[in-house]
Amino acid sequence: MKFVRGGLFALTAASFCAVVPAHADGNAAAGKTKFYTCVGCHGIPNYNNAYPAYRVPKLGGQHPEYIAAALNEYKSGDRSHPTMRAQASTLSDQDIADIAAYLAVAPEKKGD
Ligand code: HEC
Repeated sequence: MKFVRGGLFALTAASFCAVVPAHADGNAAAGKTKFYTCVGCHGIPNYNNAYPAYRVPKLGGQHPEYIAAALNEYKSGDRSHPTMRAQASTLSDQDIADIAAYLAVAPEKKGD
């Protein structure tokens, strides 16, 4: 398979696309919208949830493959965290690709 760098994804991800490997055909703009429900936990300063106080993983700037793999593992049950299983179970493959693309190009601020 060839590397696909062009197209829509490069338009939305222009400044970072050089490091984004090929097969992610997620749409970062769509992913931003889909990430809204996640912002309550993942889009907060210092990645500490206010109540109850627990840390959530930093997602921005992760490789899209990593994000997608993690979400698929929650969805399939390979990762057992109940909250994230509930979140991931509502996502389609396209949702996951879009969210992964968005997170890869938005390293710091989420939910703005
Ligand atoms: C209620 C709070 C909450 C919400 C809402 C939430 N998450 Fe999470 N998320 C967590 C917690 C807590 C963890 C750590 C779980 C663990 O230890 O496995 C996590 C883990 C993750 C991970 C794995 C990160 C890693 O480094 O392994 C990903 C990816 C992720 N969440 C994406 C999302 C996405 C996408 C959404 C929205 C569809 C979302 N989360 C919504 C709390 C939340």
